[in-house]
Amino acid sequence: MLHWQSAMGADEAIENAPVDHRKPARDPASAQALPQTAAPDPPPRAVAPAALAEPGADAAVAAAGPGELDTAPDAALSQVATLEALREAVERFDGCALKRTATNLVFARGSREAPVMFIGEAPGAEEDRAGLPFVGASGRLLDRMLGFIGLDEQSVYITNILFWRPPGNRNPTDAEIAACLPFVRRHIALLQPKVIVTLGRPAMNTVLGISERITRARGRWYDYVDGQLGGPIPAMPTFHPAYLLRNPAQKREAWVDLLTLRDKLETIS
Ligand code: URA
Repeated sequence: MLHWQSAMGADEAIENAPVDHRKPARDPASAQALPQTAAPDPPPRAVAPAALAEPGADAAVAAAGPGELDTAPDAALSQVATLEALREAVERFDGCALKRTATNLVFARGSREAPVMFIGEAPGAEEDRAGLPFVGASGRLLDRMLGFIGLDEQSVYITNILFWRPPGNRNPTDAEIAACLPFVRRHIALLQPKVIVTLGRPAMNTVLGISERITRARGRWYDYVDGQLGGPIPAMPTFHPAYLLRNPAQKREAWVDLLTLRDKLETIS
Protein backbone atom coordinates (compact mmCIF):
# COMPACT_ATOMS: atom_id res chain seq x y z
CA MET A 1 0.00 0.00 0.00
CA LEU A 2 2.84 2.38 0.90
CA HIS A 3 4.59 1.58 -2.39
CA TRP A 4 1.39 2.29 -4.30
CA GLN A 5 0.84 5.58 -2.48
CA SER A 6 4.41 6.62 -3.14
CA ALA A 7 4.07 5.75 -6.85
CA MET A 8 0.90 7.88 -6.97
CA GLY A 9 2.86 10.82 -5.57
CA ALA A 10 1.47 10.70 -2.01
CA ASP A 11 4.90 10.58 -0.44
CA GLU A 12 4.80 13.40 2.05
CA ALA A 13 3.50 13.35 5.63
CA ILE A 14 1.13 16.29 5.87
CA GLU A 15 -0.50 15.80 9.29
CA ASN A 16 1.26 15.61 12.62
CA ALA A 17 -0.44 12.29 13.47
CA PRO A 18 -1.73 9.48 11.23
CA VAL A 19 -5.48 9.39 10.58
CA ASP A 20 -7.20 6.03 10.04
CA HIS A 21 -9.59 6.84 7.22
CA ARG A 22 -10.99 3.28 7.25
CA LYS A 23 -12.74 4.05 10.53
CA PRO A 24 -16.25 5.18 9.49
CA ALA A 25 -17.78 8.12 11.27
CA ARG A 26 -20.83 6.60 13.00
CA ASP A 27 -23.03 9.65 12.65
CA PRO A 28 -22.43 13.31 11.98
CA ALA A 29 -22.18 14.06 15.67
CA SER A 30 -19.57 11.36 16.18
CA ALA A 31 -17.37 13.06 13.62
CA GLN A 32 -16.68 15.52 16.38
CA ALA A 33 -15.35 12.69 18.48
CA LEU A 34 -12.86 11.52 15.85
CA PRO A 35 -9.32 12.75 16.39
CA GLN A 36 -9.24 16.30 15.20
CA THR A 37 -6.54 17.14 12.75
CA ALA A 38 -4.68 20.35 13.34
CA ALA A 39 -6.44 23.45 12.06
CA PRO A 40 -5.06 24.26 8.61
CA ASP A 41 -2.28 26.76 8.61
CA PRO A 42 -3.26 30.21 7.44
CA PRO A 43 -2.62 30.76 3.75
CA PRO A 44 1.01 31.60 3.12
CA ARG A 45 1.67 35.28 3.35
CA ALA A 46 4.79 36.15 1.56
CA VAL A 47 7.13 37.47 4.14
CA ALA A 48 9.99 39.68 3.27
CA PRO A 49 13.32 38.28 4.34
CA ALA A 50 13.14 40.65 7.28
CA ALA A 51 15.96 38.89 9.03
CA LEU A 52 18.41 39.52 6.22
CA ALA A 53 21.76 39.84 7.82
CA GLU A 54 22.96 42.86 5.89
CA PRO A 55 22.69 46.28 7.51
CA GLY A 56 19.95 48.34 5.98
CA ALA A 57 17.88 45.37 4.87
CA ASP A 58 15.43 45.75 7.71
CA ALA A 59 15.05 49.41 6.90
CA ALA A 60 14.36 48.59 3.27
CA VAL A 61 11.72 46.07 4.30
CA ALA A 62 10.16 48.45 6.77
CA ALA A 63 10.10 51.20 4.18
CA ALA A 64 8.15 48.97 1.81
CA GLY A 65 5.25 48.78 4.28
CA PRO A 66 3.39 45.63 5.24
CA GLY A 67 0.85 45.81 2.43
CA GLU A 68 3.49 45.83 -0.28
CA LEU A 69 5.34 42.68 0.65
CA ASP A 70 3.56 40.19 -1.56
CA THR A 71 6.85 38.66 -2.58
CA ALA A 72 10.35 39.12 -1.28
CA PRO A 73 11.01 42.69 -2.34
CA ASP A 74 13.80 43.26 -4.77
CA ALA A 75 14.74 46.36 -2.78
CA ALA A 76 15.53 44.31 0.33
CA LEU A 77 17.30 41.63 -1.69
CA SER A 78 19.50 44.22 -3.34
CA GLN A 79 21.15 44.53 0.10
CA VAL A 80 22.16 40.87 -0.04
CA ALA A 81 25.73 40.99 -1.22
CA THR A 82 27.00 37.40 -1.18
CA LEU A 83 25.78 33.96 -2.20
CA GLU A 84 26.01 32.82 1.44
CA ALA A 85 23.79 35.70 2.55
CA LEU A 86 21.36 34.91 -0.25
CA ARG A 87 21.17 31.29 0.83
CA GLU A 88 20.47 32.42 4.40
CA ALA A 89 17.80 34.81 3.14
CA VAL A 90 16.13 31.96 1.22
CA GLU A 91 16.34 29.76 4.31
CA ARG A 92 14.55 32.41 6.36
CA PHE A 93 11.95 33.18 3.71
CA ASP A 94 8.49 31.89 4.65
CA GLY A 95 6.61 33.15 1.61
CA CYS A 96 6.66 29.92 -0.42
CA ALA A 97 4.35 27.18 0.83
CA LEU A 98 6.64 24.45 -0.57
CA LYS A 99 9.03 25.07 2.31
CA ARG A 100 6.55 23.48 4.72
CA THR A 101 6.49 20.08 3.03
CA ALA A 102 10.09 19.91 1.83
CA THR A 103 12.81 18.17 3.82
CA ASN A 104 15.67 20.42 2.75
CA LEU A 105 16.35 23.67 1.01
CA VAL A 106 17.92 22.96 -2.38
CA PHE A 107 20.03 25.96 -3.30
CA ALA A 108 22.84 25.19 -5.73
CA ARG A 109 25.83 23.04 -6.56
CA GLY A 110 28.92 23.64 -8.64
CA SER A 111 31.52 26.38 -8.80
CA ARG A 112 30.73 30.02 -8.13
CA GLU A 113 33.54 30.91 -10.54
CA ALA A 114 31.80 28.96 -13.31
CA PRO A 115 31.19 30.78 -16.58
CA VAL A 116 27.89 28.98 -17.11
CA MET A 117 24.83 28.83 -14.85
CA PHE A 118 22.24 26.09 -15.46
CA ILE A 119 18.74 26.77 -14.14
CA GLY A 120 16.25 23.91 -13.84
CA GLU A 121 12.75 23.70 -12.48
CA ALA A 122 12.36 22.18 -9.02
CA PRO A 123 14.03 19.61 -6.81
CA GLY A 124 12.77 16.02 -6.90
CA ALA A 125 12.82 13.41 -4.13
CA GLU A 126 16.57 12.74 -4.26
CA GLU A 127 17.43 16.42 -4.39
CA ASP A 128 15.09 17.07 -1.45
CA ARG A 129 16.89 14.40 0.59
CA ALA A 130 20.38 15.56 -0.39
CA GLY A 131 19.73 19.32 -0.32
CA LEU A 132 21.47 19.59 -3.71
CA PRO A 133 20.04 20.17 -7.19
CA PHE A 134 20.16 17.60 -9.99
CA VAL A 135 21.55 14.64 -8.09
CA GLY A 136 18.85 12.14 -9.17
CA ALA A 137 18.32 10.47 -12.54
CA SER A 138 17.98 13.83 -14.37
CA GLY A 139 21.13 15.08 -12.71
CA ARG A 140 23.10 12.02 -13.71
CA LEU A 141 22.05 12.57 -17.34
CA LEU A 142 22.87 16.28 -17.05
CA ASP A 143 26.34 15.45 -15.71
CA ARG A 144 26.92 13.04 -18.61
CA MET A 145 25.77 15.66 -21.12
CA LEU A 146 28.12 18.23 -19.60
CA GLY A 147 30.93 15.72 -19.78
CA PHE A 148 30.43 15.49 -23.57
CA ILE A 149 31.58 19.09 -23.89
CA GLY A 150 34.27 18.90 -21.24
CA LEU A 151 32.30 20.52 -18.41
CA ASP A 152 31.99 19.24 -14.86
CA GLU A 153 31.03 20.45 -11.41
CA GLN A 154 34.14 22.68 -11.32
CA SER A 155 33.08 24.53 -14.46
CA VAL A 156 29.31 24.89 -14.04
CA TYR A 157 26.91 26.24 -11.44
CA ILE A 158 23.51 24.54 -11.16
CA THR A 159 20.32 25.78 -9.50
CA ASN A 160 16.53 25.83 -9.98
CA ILE A 161 13.72 28.37 -10.17
CA LEU A 162 12.29 26.77 -7.00
CA PHE A 163 14.27 26.06 -3.85
CA TRP A 164 11.96 23.40 -2.40
CA ARG A 165 10.46 20.22 -3.78
CA PRO A 166 6.78 20.35 -4.75
CA PRO A 167 5.06 17.44 -2.91
CA GLY A 168 4.89 14.35 -5.11
CA ASN A 169 6.78 16.26 -7.82
CA ARG A 170 3.60 18.07 -8.83
CA ASN A 171 3.90 21.09 -11.10
CA PRO A 172 4.70 24.24 -9.15
CA THR A 173 1.98 26.89 -8.99
CA ASP A 174 2.41 30.37 -10.44
CA ALA A 175 2.35 31.76 -6.88
CA GLU A 176 5.21 29.47 -5.80
CA ILE A 177 7.26 30.46 -8.82
CA ALA A 178 6.54 34.17 -8.28
CA ALA A 179 7.53 33.92 -4.59
CA CYS A 180 10.95 32.50 -5.48
CA LEU A 181 11.65 34.65 -8.55
CA PRO A 182 13.23 37.66 -6.77
CA PHE A 183 15.70 35.25 -5.16
CA VAL A 184 16.46 33.65 -8.52
CA ARG A 185 17.13 37.07 -10.06
CA ARG A 186 19.40 38.00 -7.17
CA HIS A 187 21.12 34.63 -7.49
CA ILE A 188 21.96 35.43 -11.12
CA ALA A 189 23.03 38.97 -10.25
CA LEU A 190 25.42 37.77 -7.54
CA LEU A 191 26.90 34.96 -9.61
CA GLN A 192 27.22 37.09 -12.77
CA PRO A 193 27.72 34.10 -15.06
CA LYS A 194 28.97 34.69 -18.58
CA VAL A 195 26.20 32.47 -19.95
CA ILE A 196 22.87 31.10 -18.67
CA VAL A 197 21.26 27.84 -19.84
CA THR A 198 17.65 27.21 -18.80
CA LEU A 199 16.48 23.59 -18.62
CA GLY A 200 12.88 22.98 -19.68
CA ARG A 201 9.93 25.23 -20.37
CA PRO A 202 9.11 26.46 -16.84
CA ALA A 203 12.68 27.71 -16.30
CA MET A 204 12.75 29.30 -19.77
CA ASN A 205 9.40 30.94 -19.18
CA THR A 206 10.26 32.21 -15.69
CA VAL A 207 13.81 33.42 -16.28
CA LEU A 208 13.58 34.61 -19.87
CA GLY A 209 9.86 35.38 -20.15
CA ILE A 210 9.63 33.22 -23.29
CA SER A 211 6.25 31.51 -23.64
CA GLU A 212 6.98 29.75 -26.95
CA ARG A 213 7.19 25.98 -27.08
CA ILE A 214 10.59 24.72 -25.97
CA THR A 215 10.90 22.78 -29.24
CA ARG A 216 10.87 26.12 -31.09
CA ALA A 217 12.78 28.30 -28.64
CA ARG A 218 15.59 25.89 -27.69
CA GLY A 219 19.12 26.21 -29.01
CA ARG A 220 18.95 29.96 -29.68
CA TRP A 221 20.56 32.80 -27.76
CA TYR A 222 18.47 35.42 -26.01
CA ASP A 223 19.45 38.25 -23.71
CA TYR A 224 18.78 37.92 -20.00
CA VAL A 225 18.27 41.51 -18.94
CA ASP A 226 18.02 42.79 -15.37
CA GLY A 227 18.64 46.27 -13.96
CA GLN A 228 20.80 44.64 -11.26
CA LEU A 229 23.34 43.76 -13.96
CA GLY A 230 25.75 45.92 -15.87
CA GLY A 231 24.51 44.47 -19.16
CA PRO A 232 22.65 41.55 -20.71
CA ILE A 233 23.78 37.95 -20.22
CA PRO A 234 23.42 35.58 -23.19
CA ALA A 235 20.94 32.84 -22.31
CA MET A 236 19.92 29.68 -24.15
CA PRO A 237 16.96 27.44 -23.36
CA THR A 238 17.31 23.71 -23.90
CA PHE A 239 15.40 20.58 -23.00
CA HIS A 240 15.11 19.45 -19.41
CA PRO A 241 17.06 16.20 -18.82
CA ALA A 242 13.91 14.59 -17.35
CA TYR A 243 12.20 15.23 -20.70
CA LEU A 244 15.16 13.65 -22.50
CA LEU A 245 14.88 10.57 -20.28
CA ARG A 246 11.25 10.23 -21.37
CA ASN A 247 11.93 11.20 -25.00
CA PRO A 248 15.38 9.87 -25.93
CA ALA A 249 14.79 10.75 -29.59
CA GLN A 250 15.24 14.43 -28.64
CA LYS A 251 18.75 13.83 -27.35
CA ARG A 252 20.03 14.65 -30.82
CA GLU A 253 18.71 18.23 -30.51
CA ALA A 254 20.06 18.48 -26.98
CA TRP A 255 23.46 17.46 -28.35
CA VAL A 256 23.28 20.27 -30.92
CA ASP A 257 22.43 22.70 -28.08
CA LEU A 258 25.44 21.51 -26.10
CA LEU A 259 27.70 22.18 -29.08
CA THR A 260 26.14 25.64 -29.39
CA LEU A 261 26.98 26.22 -25.73
CA ARG A 262 30.53 24.97 -26.21
CA ASP A 263 31.03 27.36 -29.16
CA LYS A 264 29.68 30.25 -27.12
CA LEU A 265 31.99 29.50 -24.20
CA GLU A 266 34.95 29.33 -26.57
CA THR A 267 34.12 32.72 -28.09
CA ILE A 268 33.74 34.49 -24.75
CA SER A 269 36.72 33.02 -22.90
N1 URA B 1 14.71 18.48 -11.90
C1 URA B 1 14.95 19.81 -11.75
O1 URA B 1 14.41 20.63 -12.48
N2 URA B 1 15.78 20.17 -10.79
C2 URA B 1 16.38 19.32 -9.98
O2 URA B 1 17.14 19.74 -9.12
C3 URA B 1 16.13 17.94 -10.17
C4 URA B 1 15.29 17.55 -11.14
